[in-house]
Amino acid sequence: MNVLVSGGAGYIGSHTVRELIKRNHFVVVLDNLTKWHRAAVQGAELVAGDTADRELLRGLFRKYGIEAVMHFAASSLVGESVRRPSEYYYNNVVKGLSLMDAMVEAGVRFLIFSSTAAVYGEPREVPITEAHPANPTNPYGATKLAVEGAMRWYGEAYGLRYASLRYFNAAGADPAGDIGEDHDPETHLIPLVLKTALGLLPRLEVYGTDYPTPDGTCIRDYIHVSDLAEAHVLALEALAAGAPSAVYNLGNGSGYSVLEVVRAAEEVTGRPIPVHYGPRRAGDPSVLVAGSEKIKADLGWRPRFTSLGDIIGTAWRWHLGHPGGFEK
Ligand SMILES: NC(=O)c1ccc[n+]([C@@H]2O[C@H](COP(=O)([O-])OP(=O)(O)OC[C@H]3O[C@@H](n4cnc5c(N)ncnc54)[C@H](O)[C@@H]3O)[C@@H](O)[C@H]2O)c1
Repeated sequence: MNVLVSGGAGYIGSHTVRELIKRNHFVVVLDNLTKWHRAAVQGAELVAGDTADRELLRGLFRKYGIEAVMHFAASSLVGESVRRPSEYYYNNVVKGLSLMDAMVEAGVRFLIFSSTAAVYGEPREVPITEAHPANPTNPYGATKLAVEGAMRWYGEAYGLRYASLRYFNAAGADPAGDIGEDHDPETHLIPLVLKTALGLLPRLEVYGTDYPTPDGTCIRDYIHVSDLAEAHVLALEALAAGAPSAVYNLGNGSGYSVLEVVRAAEEVTGRPIPVHYGPRRAGDPSVLVAGSEKIKADLGWRPRFTSLGDIIGTAWRWHLGHPGGFEK
């Protein structure tokens, strides 16, 4: 298919672009390059532009005969969203709706959307399935849920068909080691741990040691970025083959504490990782673990990277080869 990937120069988008190309799809990346890097996009057309630019979208849909959109472009820092909700509603919701309107206008029917575990808020039980109530505790999660709601009604009214993929913690890098995670600022645990192993950070800050978990630190579900990428392509191909719109969780189904991640990274890197214990951060749930049975049953998706050591190993390969991230 001919697929437009918004935010395709970002971390998860660039890995998904690679997977799409591997499966012989034609890819146009639209990215405003506020957060990411040209070098992450290989083998696809890269258009520098914004999802709010209706004229640009109209032209791209026509020129490339676009049949589907994968929508990664978003602002996605939880803490920043609390301080600046207006920016998050504008970039994620207003521009998201504008992109969907452009799709409806051009007759582009299939949308794969990057949602998040943050739509659930504080979990009532784990593993969290798609049936768990959505009750986001920050503007970031609320904006993703708002777009999910809009997709449903666009489906009813305009025939838009969609898959909303609620990722847990994306991690790792393409095993080839040439693309990987390079956020600025970096807020994700595994890259911070590996930057500490490289000596780029003096120590890892651990937020909270009094959570109701075996070692007192938060537990999260880490899902390899290549497994996420594969899920996107499966979801797109299923929609195109007639599958109904759906919402799916994407996680490994097992949780690791912050300290377990640190120990696993020490093993992978063979280097000590100094930590500093600080207080809890507001709004961090103690345990987030995904139930991803629905996408396994519906689409036959299976994560290939189920071991934490393997996930960290791919990230380490990327960081060792690119300690300063992508060339700027
Ligand atoms: N990284 C995670 O663990 C995680 C977890 C759950 C959900 N998500 C979601 O997955 C998506 C991708 O995450 P990521 O970590 O790859 O983020 P990222 O910041 O690496 O990539 C997002 C890309 O979108 C671009 N962008 C942002 N706003 C844009 C706009 N208006 N127009 C055009 N381009 C724009 C940025 O330049 C960037 O290249 C996001 O929607 C995020 O909310 C990420």
